[in-house]
Amino acid sequence: MMKHEQLVETANYLKDKGFLEPEIGLILGSGLGDLADEITNPIVVPYSEIPHFPISTVKGHKGQLVYGELSGKTVIAMQGRFHFYEGYPIQEVTLPIRVMKLLGVHSVGLTNAAGGVNIDFSPGDLMLIQDHINFTAQNPLIGPNDEEMGPRFPDMSQTYDSDYQEKIKSVAKKMNVAIKEGVYMGFSGPTYETPAEIKMARTLGADAVGMSTVPEAIVARHSDLRVFGISCITNLAAGMQTSLNHQEVVEVSKRVNQTFKTLLKETLKVI
Ligand code: 6GU
Repeated sequence: MMKHEQLVETANYLKDKGFLEPEIGLILGSGLGDLADEITNPIVVPYSEIPHFPISTVKGHKGQLVYGELSGKTVIAMQGRFHFYEGYPIQEVTLPIRVMKLLGVHSVGLTNAAGGVNIDFSPGDLMLIQDHINFTAQNPLIGPNDEEMGPRFPDMSQTYDSDYQEKIKSVAKKMNVAIKEGVYMGFSGPTYETPAEIKMARTLGADAVGMSTVPEAIVARHSDLRVFGISCITNLAAGMQTSLNHQEVVEVSKRVNQTFKTLLKETLKVI
């Protein structure tokens, strides 16, 4: 467990930088990082300067926190997230959520690029996350429980806030953007799944698969933050198309970038 005093140190460092009274934390997944460039009156702090923060290693991720105003809300955005497959302990992957909680956010929005498992999905679709399956073989809450943050045995029966889900659906409708809904199944990565694993995922009830989001959602719910999640389906999963590569994930997330950003900004207005 990350020591509580360390978390407080990190939060205090950011408070001193001006991260005051944030309302909403945003984790910007692959291809969405440039939403942080639209934050006004920004305070930008690279992860490398934040005490006790891990350092982002993946290409295409900037690796900084951006605080400021977006759609009339005070937000803290992560431009680049940490993934378990990069080699960070799972508690480090989720440390930013802890810090956001200590800084005072009431909600977090989690975004990602994901592979489509549902046969009705196409690359470029957006999927509202209704629920998840933790298939990572990890849990960021393993270890002594920090009673100051939340309970030993957190309830996960309402992980993705149902009121936010309704709001996001009506925002999408108003925007005339079709939005899919479904269950996100989290794997550790970094390999993409085999066709047999994808068949398993579908059988178990998954609509999309990815390598992030689940640990962050767990930690957010532990400390009673309200959560919403949206996936960009960048490709169909193994066995549903000929092969998978990261380039395709990047290209499709770029194609959907504008729509995804508008959906998020409109969502911020109503939550
Ligand atoms: Cl097919 N699998 C996983 N685990 N993550 C992905 C993906 C697939 N496509 C984009 N991200």
